Amino acid sequence: MANEPHGLDRGLTNYGDFDFARFLRRSFARSMGISTGLLNKPIVGIAMTPSGFNNCHRYMPDLVEAVSRGVLASGALPRPFPTVSLGEVFLNPTSMMYRNLMAMDTEEMIGAQPMDAVVLIGGCDKTVPAQLMGAASAGMPAIQLVTGPMSTGRHKGQRLGACTDCRGFWAKYRAGSVDAEEIATVEGRLSVTAGTCAVMGTASTMACIAEALGMSLPGTAAIPAVHSDRLVAAEHTGMAAVRLIQSKITPRQIITEKSVENAIRVLMALSGSTNAIVHLTAIAGRLGISIPYKRFNQISDETPVLVDLKPVGEGYMEDFHAAGGMGALLRELRPLLHLDTIDVEGRTLRERLDEPVGWVDRKVIRSSDNPVSPLGGLVALNGSLAPDGAIFKRAAATPSLFESEGRAVVFTGLEDLSERIDDPNLDVKEGDILVLQNAGPYAAGMPEAGYLPIPKKLAQAGLKDMVRISDARMSGTAFGSIVLHVAPEAAVGGPLAAVRNGDRIRLSIKEKRIDLLVEPGEIAQRLKTFKPPPAPERGYKSLYRRTVTQAPQGCDFDFLVGNSASA
Ligand code: FES
Repeated sequence: MANEPHGLDRGLTNYGDFDFARFLRRSFARSMGISTGLLNKPIVGIAMTPSGFNNCHRYMPDLVEAVSRGVLASGALPRPFPTVSLGEVFLNPTSMMYRNLMAMDTEEMIGAQPMDAVVLIGGCDKTVPAQLMGAASAGMPAIQLVTGPMSTGRHKGQRLGACTDCRGFWAKYRAGSVDAEEIATVEGRLSVTAGTCAVMGTASTMACIAEALGMSLPGTAAIPAVHSDRLVAAEHTGMAAVRLIQSKITPRQIITEKSVENAIRVLMALSGSTNAIVHLTAIAGRLGISIPYKRFNQISDETPVLVDLKPVGEGYMEDFHAAGGMGALLRELRPLLHLDTIDVEGRTLRERLDEPVGWVDRKVIRSSDNPVSPLGGLVALNGSLAPDGAIFKRAAATPSLFESEGRAVVFTGLEDLSERIDDPNLDVKEGDILVLQNAGPYAAGMPEAGYLPIPKKLAQAGLKDMVRISDARMSGTAFGSIVLHVAPEAAVGGPLAAVRNGDRIRLSIKEKRIDLLVEPGEIAQRLKTFKPPPAPERGYKSLYRRTVTQAPQGCDFDFLVGNSASA
């Protein structure tokens, strides 16, 4: 082991002469002005993701500097390198289409470049899942650092945070209770600092999941992006990465069936983003771990919602951090957790939770005997409309709609939706169920279009929620009685493609079912004429369309699932 190549000597370039390759590499490395002494050290790669199209990563240079400081102080050489960066709102058709591209980029650059461990710095929705997927497959000792959440802004005495309040104000603007001047003012007050969305959206949920899995240092998930402790966490992460070189702990030892179950518990207790289910499935899938919806529902039924943050409750991520953060939440969940899982430090969860807890703000992180809700925030559905499953965020929905039957109002795709949803002549009334087809992973990259707007005429009449169903996703910051991730999706011939205007649909959260009340023979007859859309002919989009899996498999590429280099 002592002679195993490390640092610059790892993975030499193939010229057919390794000594020459080593000589050439060191010569070129010298051109970066690094002393010979440092060039002989082990190397910590730092996967950094700054981008002029990613506001959430604006402080990335500060984090890279702080990680580098920690690495140097521990006797290794830090080497930052760029990968794809995905800024949620700057990507068309949707960032989800590019998560797997970033995962492949991360995996390949970890494997191709000479490093002994890697720090992954991400934050915005798809970046942390992509980095964890890539690192899981690369099999290199790895540690996750997140950029941290934004701090809140103010408007007329009200705290504002992206992006639950974006949606709230936009709904009021559509309903006519907020005018154009005010919405323009609010635009500048929603996202006022660097960092990820300020509520328990996808980025925050994935930050907490990374910590629950054991892939981040304890207590680092929720530190605000602008807090000095975020930089201290970065420095400590750099130091921990150097210890990882010694311990050789890889993601495979940390991300196990048990730690994935712990992460699902945390997801439920946070009432976190529905997107996290897809991402966690994809991360676990890289290591051959599956998450059956049946087990998911068992965990949901046993796990209370304990965290009172938007979009489900009242607080923001900065409140969660001040209230005690993940340490306080995990201690409250302790009886439900697997305690023999390990983190990047090789420490068991039991050891972490045996340490005394500090002050906890029980308004934000409830005790298990006084939960926000006794059941987990998310539930998987099954039924004739979704034979392979669908997801419903019950904590963010209207309980009076949990047992619903209504008439389908169908939109055949995203264009059809935007063209007709506000048409005053749209045949829609309270109690109807809105259905969006062809917005799944295969058809459209699975955009966050599942939060269908309430048709304008109903919104103006005061309607706040109605059942909406699609094969799309929904932003983690959104809310409503929304059935998502319907599988198989319409574009691969799922029953969703057979729904017609006027069909009856029944939703039962009690039975965990979503059913199309049409005879099976009639559904089969309608699907006979179904034709999938053609795949794009070239480039990444062609690869994506040919290989993307459905939501219950994590929307990963089929050739990457369970295919880890660390196997
Ligand atoms: Fe980046 Fe919300 S836009 S986390």
